[in-house]
Amino acid sequence: MTADAIMKRSRIVLIEKAKETGFCFGVKRALKILEEAVDKYGEVETLGPVVHNERVVDSLGRLGVKVVESSHQVAGRIAVIPSHGMPPQVSHELKARGLTIIDTTCPNVQRAQKAAKELSEAGFWVIVFGDPHHPEVKGILGWAAGKGVATLDSEAISKLSDLPHRLGLLSQTTRNPSQFARFTNDVINLLLPRIGELRVVNTICNVTEKRQTEAMELAEKADLMIVVGGRNSANTRCLAEVCSSTGTETHHVESAAEIQEEWFGNKTFVGVTTGTSIPDRLTQEVMLRLDQIRKRGLDAT
Ligand code: F3S
Repeated sequence: MTADAIMKRSRIVLIEKAKETGFCFGVKRALKILEEAVDKYGEVETLGPVVHNERVVDSLGRLGVKVVESSHQVAGRIAVIPSHGMPPQVSHELKARGLTIIDTTCPNVQRAQKAAKELSEAGFWVIVFGDPHHPEVKGILGWAAGKGVATLDSEAISKLSDLPHRLGLLSQTTRNPSQFARFTNDVINLLLPRIGELRVVNTICNVTEKRQTEAMELAEKADLMIVVGGRNSANTRCLAEVCSSTGTETHHVESAAEIQEEWFGNKTFVGVTTGTSIPDRLTQEVMLRLDQIRKRGLDAT
């Protein structure tokens, strides 16, 4: 073995998994509803992936769950609304076509949708702090009946020339609470002279908040963090951002196979956390891979 290869051997002493990993209650609930629907109806079609995890979507596909991109592509009789929800207009359109709707929207997302609807009906223009391209955010905005906007940039709001007098502020469920607080603060500082009223509703999911706090605590102790989850999963990307913000080297992986041995050359404490759409089996594979790397490091000493 070359000196270089020996240097790259891990020196891992400790691997710690966050207390909460794997599916959140919203994902478990969605999968249960979906499995019951498949038992009852055979084939069903989901409007986009029911959860943001390819492996889970593939195994559901083998049970008879087909993914379509939009309501217009539903060819069968049973349409499933995914856990991150949809604008109400989509359900109305599907109902008008006589389809049966199975709604797996997470109760925490429903809370955000209800807040958007109530604010809009009370005459507030709704600002959703979130990624405007994310389906959950588009859905929440739909519940505000088009009277609002989604953004992560408070400056963009301040540039609006015809700013409504009453603003309602809420968040994508998977956002970081400190970032939402900062955004709210910026909105107050930038816009208060131009508006009459601002109402803020905290719609961040409690599971997300708890997981991010735990991940940050773990990242502060660890030399390296592994964050497991889909690259298109908003909550996993937020977890990775939170871990990186502590200054600890952080790697976002979708599977154990992506973990590279050379990351661990001078690391002794590795922390692991996962997004909320990750099956326990995948977390176990990651822990096993890390343990193999740790053992190889010990054997080399
Ligand atoms: Fe729901 Fe929060 Fe999970 S919004 S789907 S419980 S991450």
